[in-house]
Amino acid sequence: MAIERTISIVKPDAVGKNVIGKIYDRFESNGLKIVAAKMKHLTRDEAEGFYAIHKERPFFGELVEFMMSGPVMIQVLEGENAVAKNREIMGVTNPINADVGTIRKDFADSMSENAVHGSDSLENAQIEINYFFQPEEIFVRTRG
Ligand code: TYD
Repeated sequence: MAIERTISIVKPDAVGKNVIGKIYDRFESNGLKIVAAKMKHLTRDEAEGFYAIHKERPFFGELVEFMMSGPVMIQVLEGENAVAKNREIMGVTNPINADVGTIRKDFADSMSENAVHGSDSLENAQIEINYFFQPEEIFVRTRG
């Protein structure tokens, strides 16, 4: 299996619940390494640009407002099959349908406020990494 990198965002609802550490533990316990991280309060332009693919969807306005409602924690995760593994750890979009033990089942309250974002393909992961990080902000983990 290939070593991949993916973007994860702890959304404003989960930051507000003070569960950044609990969510990070899910990544680390599942073999994903955090190789970059930053806390940011997204501007409207940043939130709209990040979710541009959804701009014609009825939930776009609400999604952007939510993503601007408080700081987010953004990280690059690295590991075997990282894109799919992160999506598995997150659980499906609507927490009602998420599997037991997933982040969204345990920390999300609704479809619109669902605790985490994760890139849905390797191609989008690269686009999203470039959206938030400069190359020098991503680290090589020399000690494991
Ligand atoms: P999407 O990319 O479909 O889901 P995921 O985050 O699981 O990859 O949608 C992006 C976000 O938009 C989703 O996390 C929550 C929000 N959203 C809604 O508020 N209502 C909806 O009906 C959908 C599909 C998404």
